[in-house]
Amino acid sequence: MKIIEVKDIKDNLGKKIKLRGWVRNYRKGSSKLRFIVFRDGTGSVQAIAFKPEMGEKNFEKVKKLTLESSLEIIGIPSEHPKKTGVYEIQLSDINIINIADEYPIGKKEHGADFLLSNRHLWMRAPSQNAALKIRHTVYFAICDYLNQNGFYRFDSPIITPNASEGTTTLFEVPYFDLGSGYLSQSGQLYLEAGIMSLGKVYDFGPVFRAEKSKTRKHLTEFWMMDAEAAFVEHEENMKIQEELIRYVIRTVLEKNRQELDLLERNIENLEKADAPFKIWTHKQAIDYLRSKGVEIDYNDDFGAPEEEMLTSELAVPLFIEKWPKEIKSFYMKRDPEDPKLVLGADLIAPEGFGEIIGGSQREDDHDILLERIKTEGYNVESYQWFLDLRKYGSVPHSGFGIGLERLVQWMSGIRHIREVIPFPRMLNRIYP
Ligand code: 4AD
Ligand code: MG
Repeated sequence: MKIIEVKDIKDNLGKKIKLRGWVRNYRKGSSKLRFIVFRDGTGSVQAIAFKPEMGEKNFEKVKKLTLESSLEIIGIPSEHPKKTGVYEIQLSDINIINIADEYPIGKKEHGADFLLSNRHLWMRAPSQNAALKIRHTVYFAICDYLNQNGFYRFDSPIITPNASEGTTTLFEVPYFDLGSGYLSQSGQLYLEAGIMSLGKVYDFGPVFRAEKSKTRKHLTEFWMMDAEAAFVEHEENMKIQEELIRYVIRTVLEKNRQELDLLERNIENLEKADAPFKIWTHKQAIDYLRSKGVEIDYNDDFGAPEEEMLTSELAVPLFIEKWPKEIKSFYMKRDPEDPKLVLGADLIAPEGFGEIIGGSQREDDHDILLERIKTEGYNVESYQWFLDLRKYGSVPHSGFGIGLERLVQWMSGIRHIREVIPFPRMLNRIYP
């Protein structure tokens, strides 16, 4: 007998097959009838246990089943009599692998804290399964785009001697006789070395921010894709980001229609975002907010409410470029047209979502960079290698970093970032 997966049922109609998985749901029809919603990771299907068909002995096994028990089912699949594209399985036998204890996650509403404490089980729920499948698509779509466009994968280190994104959010780790190391906030600085060898590079891995923010968009450990390219300047940097994000949108729409529907994502809105992006300067954005009555200064950063206002009426993502240098990182290149500004751009997703990418052209002048490092009060010695890159064949270059979870969160329309990573790490949560 052939062992198949739920996704392949449509190709095996009328044949006796075996599937392996779990009981998602269990319902009594009558004394002779049981309905099992069976799932195996690739999908779920209703299996029907009818005593006259199965025989007394096999039917008795079915009666032992509980929610989330693991089992093999044996039977013949057919198309649902009324619903096209929906299948069901007439059971002839089952093999129980493990009878599950009373499952703690039931049909009643559970609080977020309870679900997070049971994350190892909660991830089996259809919504969580769908979110993790979309994450898989987004991850590989990003890699595919970069691989097809001449970027080399370049793995930057996780334990680092210095900060890339400010010293206030560093996780410190004891490092033998050398004192302290820090968990990486972004691989960017290392990629800037990589481009001088390989031209275009990217990394993709976990990064860490000891951020004391309890918002629905912050994790302390999240996944970042940093890309960096030699000879690419500010405008082209934004073009690459736009192409990449539009490619990811199309890929998700093509591969995850079912998951998006299950999550009740507005598909039309996602389709509309696959169009030329908008660009505003930071100043234009401030002007807009002020015209809406927001009290905000020309040197201010945006908080979540401002980002929401900026994009709530937009259909496409928006770049906000040319920021006051005081509110951006030390490595961003000054704007030749206005030395008070830097050639950085954040990409803000529409529908009021907010930032998904941070990027910039990098400062390639040794002395200006040194000045910036000193102004920030950083230890010059630990940035010596980074300054070296401006001494030995410096070139104009740019890059950007995508927060994987933010991108997945926006694309899947999930409200809280904790649901788009298998095991979220947050200010007040490290278990399980
Ligand atoms: O804007 P950020 O801080 O930029 C950098 O780290 C640059 N070095 C990237 C680069 O140019 N290579 O972070 C990049 C993105 C943000 O736009 C956001 O999507 C995400 O990382 N991000 C977070 N995601 C979840 N939780 C947090 N605490 C995040 N902080 C940033
Ligand atoms: Mg940022």
